Amino acid sequence: MNLDQITSVSGEFDKDLSSVIVLKELEELRIKYLSRNGIVSGLFEKLKDVPKEEKPAVGNKLNALRNYITENFNLAKIKLEEKGSAGKQSIDLTLPGTQRQIGSKHILTQTVDEIKSIFKGMGFSTFEGPELESDYYNFEALNFAPDHPARDMQDTFFISKDFLLRTHTSPVQVRVMKNYKPPIRAIMPGRVYRSEAVNARSYCMFHQVEGLVIDTDITFAELKGTLVFFAKQFYGNDLKYRFRASFFPFTEPSAEMDITCYICGGKGCKICKYTGWLEILGCGMVDPNVLINCGIDPEKYTGYAFGMGIERTAMLKYNVQDIRLFFENDFRFLKQF
Ligand code: PHE
Repeated sequence: MNLDQITSVSGEFDKDLSSVIVLKELEELRIKYLSRNGIVSGLFEKLKDVPKEEKPAVGNKLNALRNYITENFNLAKIKLEEKGSAGKQSIDLTLPGTQRQIGSKHILTQTVDEIKSIFKGMGFSTFEGPELESDYYNFEALNFAPDHPARDMQDTFFISKDFLLRTHTSPVQVRVMKNYKPPIRAIMPGRVYRSEAVNARSYCMFHQVEGLVIDTDITFAELKGTLVFFAKQFYGNDLKYRFRASFFPFTEPSAEMDITCYICGGKGCKICKYTGWLEILGCGMVDPNVLINCGIDPEKYTGYAFGMGIERTAMLKYNVQDIRLFFENDFRFLKQF
């Protein structure tokens, strides 16, 4: 054996390797060159016949040949295995899945949903109406005479002499009464607009939920029972409440409902302006004039209505200090709910 022989084995191996396509062929190559009876072992066997002075050089070259073949064999094996796996198993099931970022409902939507579901449980259906209203639906039909001072309670964005952005959801009451016969039991959520200075407590646009019940023998006691049940469901069972006489042109008698301040528990603090009470809604028995305007006989039917601001409700429940936060779409705020 001499050095040239070793070089020619190396060349033969290169040629053999270049024609390998599948793993099985590579394995045949391993047997041919690297197994115990393979070519490389055979060459090592012959080392003992090499003259003493040539042994170191030949031995070195043989070692180099064995390393060269082993290395190239391993590389080729990895490549073929990768190629084979590409077709069969391209998904690594052990990897963690890609997370999908999904949004969540805005806190105001969540609040409306919760209010809706409480009233749905008491048999109320839901109605919606237009945000651009006529003066008739927003005021006149609700017993606000043209120069009624109560119009000043709600600073109005007028679009023209007869059209405006609704200042409350009460016009939907009128639309429901004009379109459906009693018994009526409905809530009407929606957006309302008032030309007010924007600050931490008030905004030029906000949301309300209005409620309306019309049937025979509807009493103020039922109004109270319904609203107390709602407030307990929404704010918690051990809540204390009171009804205070108030005024709305479309209800008579009218009241506002207060609950004990959740911050100070009724002792008096900044949030409740040191009264211990927080106003949560306006309500009353539907004024007979409104029933007449809507084609309902007040001798036969009575009813009650109530309305609450959603922002205010959410601010009380979640202790939000500034109404503007609801509309700024600041992630740091929205993510908390
Ligand atoms: N619409 C009234 C408001 O916006 C609230 C209300 C509704 C009061 C229904 C009584 C009955 O202030």
